[in-house]
Formats: sequence, C-alpha cells, structure tokens
Amino acid sequence: MFAALLTALIFASAFNDVSSVNLCPDGWTFGNETSYCYQISQRYMTYAETDSYCQTIGGRQAFIMSTKELTFFSYFTAGMFAQPWLAITRNTTTNVWHNSDGTTAFSTWWTTGEPSVNGDCATFKSTDKAGMKATPCYSVQPAICRQMPALCPTTTNYGGSYSRTGTIKSPGYPDQYYNNLDCWYVINSPNNTYITLQFSPYLVERTFDYIQAYDGPNDTYPYLGKTDEYTNPRYDFESSSNVVSFKFHTDKTITNNGWLLTWNAQVYSAPINQTGQNGTFTSPNYPDNYGPYTEQLYYITAPDGFHVNVTIDDFLTEARFDVLEIYNSSTVLPNNLVANLSGNATVPWSWVSPYSYVTMRFKSDGSVQKRGFEGYWFITFP
Ligand SMILES: *[C@@H]1O[C@H](CO)[C@@H](O)[C@H](O)[C@H]1NC(C)=O
Ligand SMILES: *[C@@H]1O[C@H](CO)[C@@H](O)[C@H](O)[C@H]1NC(C)=O
Ligand SMILES: *[C@@H]1O[C@H](CO)[C@@H](O)[C@H](O)[C@H]1NC(C)=O
Ligand SMILES: *[C@@H]1O[C@H](CO)[C@@H](O)[C@H](O)[C@H]1NC(C)=O
Ligand SMILES: *[C@@H]1O[C@H](CO)[C@@H](O)[C@H](O)[C@H]1NC(C)=O
Ligand SMILES: *[C@@H]1O[C@H](CO)[C@@H](O)[C@H](O)[C@H]1NC(C)=O
Ligand SMILES: *[C@@H]1O[C@H](CO)[C@@H](O)[C@H](O)[C@H]1NC(C)=O
Ligand SMILES: *[C@@H]1O[C@H](CO)[C@@H](O)[C@H](O)[C@H]1NC(C)=O
Ligand SMILES: *[C@@H]1O[C@H](CO)[C@@H](O)[C@H](O)[C@H]1NC(C)=O
Ligand SMILES: *[C@@H]1O[C@H](CO)[C@@H](O)[C@H](O)[C@H]1NC(C)=O
Repeated sequence: MFAALLTALIFASAFNDVSSVNLCPDGWTFGNETSYCYQISQRYMTYAETDSYCQTIGGRQAFIMSTKELTFFSYFTAGMFAQPWLAITRNTTTNVWHNSDGTTAFSTWWTTGEPSVNGDCATFKSTDKAGMKATPCYSVQPAICRQMPALCPTTTNYGGSYSRTGTIKSPGYPDQYYNNLDCWYVINSPNNTYITLQFSPYLVERTFDYIQAYDGPNDTYPYLGKTDEYTNPRYDFESSSNVVSFKFHTDKTITNNGWLLTWNAQVYSAPINQTGQNGTFTSPNYPDNYGPYTEQLYYITAPDGFHVNVTIDDFLTEARFDVLEIYNSSTVLPNNLVANLSGNATVPWSWVSPYSYVTMRFKSDGSVQKRGFEGYWFITFP
C-alpha cells in the first residue's frame, strides 16, 4: 500500500504540468494531498452497505491512511451537513478500532471527545478538530469512496536499436494497478530481430482487464492476440519484426497485483535444410562463439525409407540456457523431443532416427556464449 502510494505520488508529480482533472474518472475528485481519487455519495446508507456501494462505482470504502489524507478529508467534507462513513470499526471484544485492512486506526486522528461509547463504526467530522467519530453502524450516512487514479507510465517507448532484452511492469506492480486504464507500450529492438513477450507473473482481473498485442507500433498493425481469451488464454506473444506494441486495458472495478513482462529480441536466421546422403552442420559462427538470442533450425531429410545417423563430435554451450534440441519429427513438436543437449554434453553423441527426417533447433539466451557444436549425419539402411 505504501509503495503504491509512493508510486502514485511520483507519477502525480510527473503529471503536475498536465491537468490533474484527467487523472480521475468523471464524478471523482483528485486528492491533491494524496494522489488518490475520491467521491462522496449522494445517497445515504448504513455502514454495512458502504463498501459494496463503493465497489459498484470502482472504488473501495476509505479509512484514513495518512495525515495528508486527514487534511484532504477536512476540506473535502467541509460544509457538509452529514458525516460520511469511514471504513473503521470497533472490535467489541477487545475495544480496539480497526481499519478495514485490519490495521489499527491511528489513535490521534479522533475528533475532540472521541471515540465515545456511542457506536461501533466511524464517520468523519470536519469541524472541532477534524477526525474520526464513533457512530452507530445502523445510522444512515453518505459513503466516502477512494480509488487509484488512472495513471499510465509516462514512458511508452521501450527498447531501442541496441536493446535486446528488458522488463516492463504494470503501473504500481507488484502492489496494485489502477482501474480505468488504457496504457500503451511500444517496444523496439535491433534491425533483423523479432521480439518475444512473456507476461509472468500475470495477476490481472479475469476477462475485464487484459492485454492486446499488435505486430507493429500501434493497433493499425495485425492483431497478435489477447491475454485471458476465455477459451485460449495466452501470456506469450511473438512479433514478426523489430517493433511490437500492446495495450493494457482495465475496467472500472477490481484490480490485482498486475504483471511483469520480459521481452527478448531474437535473431532471424533462415532454417538450414539438408538433403541427400550425408552432411555436416555446426552452430552459427562455429568454431567462434555463437551470438546471443540465436535461434537456428536444422531440417535433415533423407531419401524415403532410410534412417539418419546423427553424430555430434564437439559440443560446448552455456549449461541449461543454450540448448540444442533434437526431434524425431519433420518439424519442432514438443512430444517428439529426443535429446536436449547443453553445457558439456557428452561427445561423441550419436543416434539413429526412426524416420527419414530429423529436426534440430539451437537456441541461446542473452548471456554467456560458447563455441557451440559440430556434427555430421549420413543415411543408414533400415
Ligand atoms: C490542496 O488543495 C487545498 C485546497 O485547494 C489547498 O488548501 C492545499 O494547500 C493543497 N495542498 C497541496 C499539497 O497542494
Ligand atoms: C475481535 O478480536 C478478537 C480477539 O483478537 C478476535 O478473536 C475477533 O475475531 C475479533 N472480532 C472481529 C469481528 O474482528
Ligand atoms: C535499421 O534499419 C533502418 C532502415 O533500414 C536504418 O535506417 C537504420 O539505420 C538501421 N539501424 C541500425 C542500428 O542499423
Ligand atoms: C501507426 O504507426 C504508423 C507507423 O509509425 C504511423 O504511420 C501511423 O500514423 C500510426 N497510426 C496511428 C493511428 O497512430
Ligand atoms: C526448409 O525446410 C522447411 C521445412 O520443411 C521449409 O518450410 C522451408 O521453406 C525450407 N527452406 C528452404 C530455404 O528450402
Ligand atoms: C556423401 O554423399 C556424397 C553424395 O551426395 C558421396 O559422394 C560421398 O561419398 C558421401 N560421403 C560419405 C562420407 O559417405
Ligand atoms: C552412428 O555413426 C557413428 C559414427 O560413424 C557410430 O559410431 C555409431 O555407432 C552410429 N550409431 C548407430 C546407432 O549406429
Ligand atoms: C531443454 O532444456 C532446457 C534447460 O533445462 C529447458 O529450458 C528447455 O525448455 C528444454 N527444451 C525442451 C524442448 O524441453
Ligand atoms: C520419437 O520421440 C519421442 C520422444 O522421445 C518418443 O516418445 C517416440 O517413441 C519417438 N518415436 C519413435 C518412432 O521412435
Ligand atoms: C567442460 O569440459 C571442459 C573440458 O573437459 C572443462 O575444461 C570445463 O571446465 C567443463 N565445463 C563445465 C562447465 O563443466
């Protein structure tokens, strides 16, 4: 909560020269002292109804979080006839007053002569030392609701011609994102690369809050898809070029911790296709080091009816992160993975395919490059 408030304050100061009016939805008031949005209901209600009322309009019932908020409430409610509810109640067993988040209400924020025994819920009184006042819970009073303002980050462009990887967080992550957002993010990567996006963790209100990704700098480019598609939820996307963009949309109620995006630029390289009776293959640049974020496919196709003996006689990659995957299928199919070699894989490594084709895929990450591998193949008779 505290970190979220700080973040809000930082964003708010960045927005100072813009009009702060835009930060809150219609009908809400931006609290210049706290950078939250507030609304006092027209309708009067009992304490028990107040929080659910606030949730229907996109907020939560407010208690006093700071002296700055106390100051704000005192002029926000000044001149009001009624005293609005605060989300503060007395535990009648222990006689301790608690805020709705379970914390103890701050004892010096009571108005003069309070808390009295006259009630187990609290309202806000702006006169006579502004502060909390004990009030019977069945009393009918207005609600005072609070929500995070709709703040998108001030940066919308990430990456660049020399950036190959990065992370982006949703506003306020890991505390809480805000309601009513439509934040745009554009990522650029070096020429001749494409970009993979991976949202993890992804803690976002199902269905109503989501991300939509586009294969270019804005939504006039092809649509890549949406997180939380009801039938086909996905949290990974891949662009076809070195620019990708996405929008984070949130509706007016319910938020969550948000998301962390890791993006990577991947190097294009055309698949290496080999046919005939034999051949040799190496990792890119071998015997020099392969590059970062390399992905290289190898398709070996022998004449029908033959098998393929694949032998690797030199191998060194970064253990676990730079891998050579070998498949007994004609394309990359996870269920057909025969070997996943990395690090100091034992060589010579050799295997005979059950079919007349073999697929291999080499992938490296962004750190630690090694010389890679060298191998050969030849056809064998059934
Ligand atoms: C916020 O607004 C009130 C009323 O206009 C003003 O008295 C107060 O000084 C302002 N506070 C800050 C921190 O700007
Ligand atoms: C009041 O406090 C007691 C003792 O800590 C606790 O067991 C009880 O659950 C509390 N009641 C409410 C309504 O929170
Ligand atoms: C990337 O490609 C564009 C367009 O071809 C070119 O103008 C730019 O200089 C290239 N950038 C780099 C870093 O090579
Ligand atoms: C989308 O991006 C392209 C290329 O940057 C630009 O020419 C176009 O004006 C943009 N369209 C919108 C609606 O922003
Ligand atoms: C290499 O093989 C793949 C899979 O069979 C195919 O999609 C691709 O077009 C081939 N590329 C070339 C240059 O032959
Ligand atoms: C590799 O295949 C070619 C024909 O494509 C053949 O001439 C050559 O002898 C073969 N080499 C080996 C080592 O089998
Ligand atoms: C494949 O070829 C290698 C090198 O010629 C040989 O050592 C190995 O035994 C062969 N593998 C099989 C399963 O025949
Ligand atoms: C290969 O192993 C690496 C490291 O253990 C792992 O990250 C990768 O997912 C594996 N590849 C496949 C296709 O299972
Ligand atoms: C292909 O590889 C998969 C995964 O290792 C294995 O389950 C399957 O039996 C293999 N197919 C054949 C025909 O050997
Ligand atoms: C891999 O093997 C080489 C040669 O045996 C050795 O020098 C090196 O330390 C090994 N690396 C790792 C990570 O085990």
